[in-house]
Amino acid sequence: MKLEDRVAIVTGAQRGIGRAISEAFVGEGGKVVVADIAEREDIESTVKEINSKAGREAAMVAQVDITKAEDIDRMVKVTLDKWGKIDILVNNAGGPPMPGGIADISVEDWDRTMNVDLKGAFLCCRRVVPEMIKRGKG
Ligand SMILES: NC(=O)c1ccc[n+]([C@@H]2O[C@H](COP(=O)([O-])OP(=O)(O)OC[C@H]3O[C@@H](n4cnc5c(N)ncnc54)[C@H](O)[C@@H]3O)[C@@H](O)[C@H]2O)c1
Repeated sequence: MKLEDRVAIVTGAQRGIGRAISEAFVGEGGKVVVADIAEREDIESTVKEINSKAGREAAMVAQVDITKAEDIDRMVKVTLDKWGKIDILVNNAGGPPMPGGIADISVEDWDRTMNVDLKGAFLCCRRVVPEMIKRGKG
């Protein structure tokens, strides 16, 4: 077990690649915060399935929009309240791919993509990394 008792926040983990990363982490003994902007019941359903497959409480819900600093504060708080630390942050959440070639990309699509994929990752690191520095690891 490579991740025994390690706590990971995985953004965009309700489905897709983020969910697969979460399942892999749990399979290696870790705990994951399934952090996503999806409907709460959909995130809960993912968490339930991960926990049931693991046979332990290995996942928890954080409903979060990673473009909002106050949501990220809440995500970190619920993680620390429940599991006391953050070892790993996976900045996986992202919007749908931008269509076609450069001339097909609207300014709105560009702004939306940069806001989620780039600013969202920045905001998560900005809030989580200091917690890791405080502990001297992560
Ligand atoms: N699938 C691919 O081939 C591919 C290729 C290159 C990069 N990626 C990137 O990998 C990541 C995951 O891809 P996927 O195919 O699993 O995507 P997906 O659309 O299936 O899942 C993305 C998840 O991110 C969540 N999300 C979106 N915006 C969010 C926000 N503001 N805050 C919190 N959560 C948010 C969605 O609700 C969803 O659950 C994305 O960043 C994507 O851009 C995917």
